[in-house]
Amino acid sequence: MTIIDELRSLEREALAAVAAAGTLDALEAVRIGYLGKKGSLTAVLRGLGALSPEERPEVGRVSNEVRVALEGALDSKRTTLQHAARAERIAAEAVDVTLPGRRRPVGRQHVLHQIVDEIVEVFAGLGYRIAEGPEVELDYYNFTALNHPPDHPARALQDTFYVRDLSGDRAAVEGESDVLLRTHTSPVQVHVMESQKPPIYVLAPGKVYRRDVADPSHLPQFTQIEGLVVDEDITFGDLKGTLEHFVHAMFGPERRVRLRPHFFPFTEPSAEVDVSCAICGGQGCRTCGGEGWLEILGCGMVDPNVFRYVGIDPERYTGFAFGMGAERIAGLKYGVPDLRLFVEGDTRFLHQF
Ligand code: DAH
Repeated sequence: MTIIDELRSLEREALAAVAAAGTLDALEAVRIGYLGKKGSLTAVLRGLGALSPEERPEVGRVSNEVRVALEGALDSKRTTLQHAARAERIAAEAVDVTLPGRRRPVGRQHVLHQIVDEIVEVFAGLGYRIAEGPEVELDYYNFTALNHPPDHPARALQDTFYVRDLSGDRAAVEGESDVLLRTHTSPVQVHVMESQKPPIYVLAPGKVYRRDVADPSHLPQFTQIEGLVVDEDITFGDLKGTLEHFVHAMFGPERRVRLRPHFFPFTEPSAEVDVSCAICGGQGCRTCGGEGWLEILGCGMVDPNVFRYVGIDPERYTGFAFGMGAERIAGLKYGVPDLRLFVEGDTRFLHQF
């Protein structure tokens, strides 16, 4: 066997060993076996010196070819094995960080806002527009222009939050302030009639304040929805029809509506409106206190005196007004026995709506 044959066979053997090496360590062993200090190819290369000058160039060329081929094969196999080793390590070290996930609680509109929106929707369908007024109000709008006599009980200190300016020279003595937290949304009627000409069809939802201690049926701050219509030829029949439409839309077409005579300073005649009890259908039960009816709002025909305060001609125009408590409506609609639940912010309660 010539030395060239020997080199070629060594090459085949070495390339096969490279191909067979399954790990980096095995590959390194192959490299050392052929190209290391004591490697078999190294031994052949070392022997070159002993060759005759005629043999040397050809053998030198072939042995160099073999060395280059082997190094190339080693390099590419090493790369392949390194990639495989890395992939294997990544797979082995992988940690499953999948967690059930943290749920973010989804908020929702407060039940009172839902109710106000629902009521607004009913009246928007009848062509009403939304009106607003200030919560810090003048006595004039809250009482005087609404035809309250000076000694009306609602003006008493124990019923109304008066606002005193303690900073300047207006530092009023308690009870002498003409600034207050509105006790109802009716003053919005006055603002609207001062700034708009009939025909007027408005709905005014908003917060109101009274000096009450919170209990199942009272809140010191609550929500009212005021309605006002001023036009030619508006009658008590229009008021009744409007309220029946509202009650049916809000509580269902099977509910009946009853108007009881009442008194409000700013309407004449005035009435309180009852809706038939949903539980007993009017027979009388615990829910309605044996009455068969539940009170839901106050209403009446706008008193001509109020028209005079705002400069609307009571000979030409008539109108009706109504006011209701959103908490009360919501309480009736959902059978909530204690109005305080609406303002306490307990999400276990609120998430039911
Ligand atoms: N403002 C009255 C209250 O708070 C409710 C009310 C009654 C409003 C009759 C009205 C009305 O517009 O006509 O008790």
